[in-house]
Amino acid sequence: MNYDKVIKLALERGFYFPSCEMYNNSPAGFWEYGPNGVSLKNKFLELWRRELVRRDNMMEIDGSQIMAKSVFEASGHLASFADPIVKCTKCGSTFRADRMISESCSVVIPESADLVEFDDVIVKNGIVCPRCQGALDKTKKFNMMFRVGIGPEGEDAYLRPETCQSIFVDFPRLYKTMRGKLPMGVAQVGKSFRNEISPRQSLLRLREFYQAEIEIFCNPERLHDASKLERVKDVTLHIDNREITCSEAVDDGVLPNEFIAYYVGILTEFYQKTGISMERSRFRKLGEKEKAFYASVAFDFEVETTIGWLELVACNYRTDYDLSGHAEHSGESFQVMDGDQRVLPHVFEISMGIDRSLYCILEHSLMEDDENNRTVLSLKPYLAPRHVGVLSLVKKDGLREKTDSIHEDLNRKYDTFLDHAGAIGRRYRRLDEVGCPFAITVDHQTLQDDTVTLRDRDTMKQRRVSLSDLDDTLSESLTFPV
Ligand code: GLY
Repeated sequence: MNYDKVIKLALERGFYFPSCEMYNNSPAGFWEYGPNGVSLKNKFLELWRRELVRRDNMMEIDGSQIMAKSVFEASGHLASFADPIVKCTKCGSTFRADRMISESCSVVIPESADLVEFDDVIVKNGIVCPRCQGALDKTKKFNMMFRVGIGPEGEDAYLRPETCQSIFVDFPRLYKTMRGKLPMGVAQVGKSFRNEISPRQSLLRLREFYQAEIEIFCNPERLHDASKLERVKDVTLHIDNREITCSEAVDDGVLPNEFIAYYVGILTEFYQKTGISMERSRFRKLGEKEKAFYASVAFDFEVETTIGWLELVACNYRTDYDLSGHAEHSGESFQVMDGDQRVLPHVFEISMGIDRSLYCILEHSLMEDDENNRTVLSLKPYLAPRHVGVLSLVKKDGLREKTDSIHEDLNRKYDTFLDHAGAIGRRYRRLDEVGCPFAITVDHQTLQDDTVTLRDRDTMKQRRVSLSDLDDTLSESLTFPV
């Protein structure tokens, strides 16, 4: 199943589409979620909260998207959050150097490599502008933050390039007011903004995108506590081209300690429940030049798709990099008591790209059922944008009214889709395409004995169910797993 089929479905069935699409001067890299996309996203996030945030007793905040310049001076983003770019001296087109090079001559250079490395490869391989074959200028750095001017004087501020900065600057208050104790996890879901040189592939490289980030503040001397790991010690990880359990990963030195192994374990359990094929996933340790500037150790959680491996989550050990920076620039103390020890906490981060995760769920769920001439989005029932379609076989003879009243009852608990119009087969096909796991049809027999047909999306099997049993039957599949 390929990228084009997912896009076609997304556009035709209200999952996502380009922003301001009727204007041909709309900038690239901005996409919008339609009703089915929003519903899928909300359920994905509910699962994330259950599996990670609540399970680990983390707290969640909702910070500002525009933040003061000082925040990004302290965080290092003003100095270091930049991509290598190269400009054509003839037509003026600008390209991201690492990508243009890999597309022109298959040489892979990490984006954080020294600028001269890009220039050397361009010269050695005779690379010219892909648009006009003109000569390329020297590679430069381009800061990817969006600057905004606040108030009439246009005071400098920035749209946040990662949600986590507010978690760091809020840490002293949260620790104090929420009676914090290390390790302490703080989560945040929201938009981040990056001025990508070449945004592309719809949800996969956006300029405005959703992150679900978790920052776990910890005592760096207590990373070998195995008590939490016990809960996920047997979870299987694909890491370093091996399939090993979380505890083996620590024993074999593949993961640096029990603390990180625990979070990698619960992250894996979360993704298992999204329907993404774990056989097509891996954790990959990043090399020195691939890591972000704030990370001392980094593992990406990646998923294989028909357009290659995609990074869905960055797991970064950020040490005290952020808290030290904010302490120094703000004059605030970020040290806390851990028992009778005064510590400046270190941070382990689980930074999830929501849009990419949703894309992977869609791609891994989309099936062509040629035998039955249908497209099926085989989503986990609890993630489906619509849980149950409520259909009247015909609109006459009181069936419309009966269907409306059944719908009204179900609608209070489930995401429903009421449909009176069209051939019943076509109505089922439309529900299959948005991953709706169940459809109930109200027919003449319903008026006599209060039963309906219940159709299962994956098997297409239909059975007669009494209205009084319907809720039990549905909730068994639609409730989030524990
Ligand atoms: N906070 C890490 C990232 O945005 O990639």
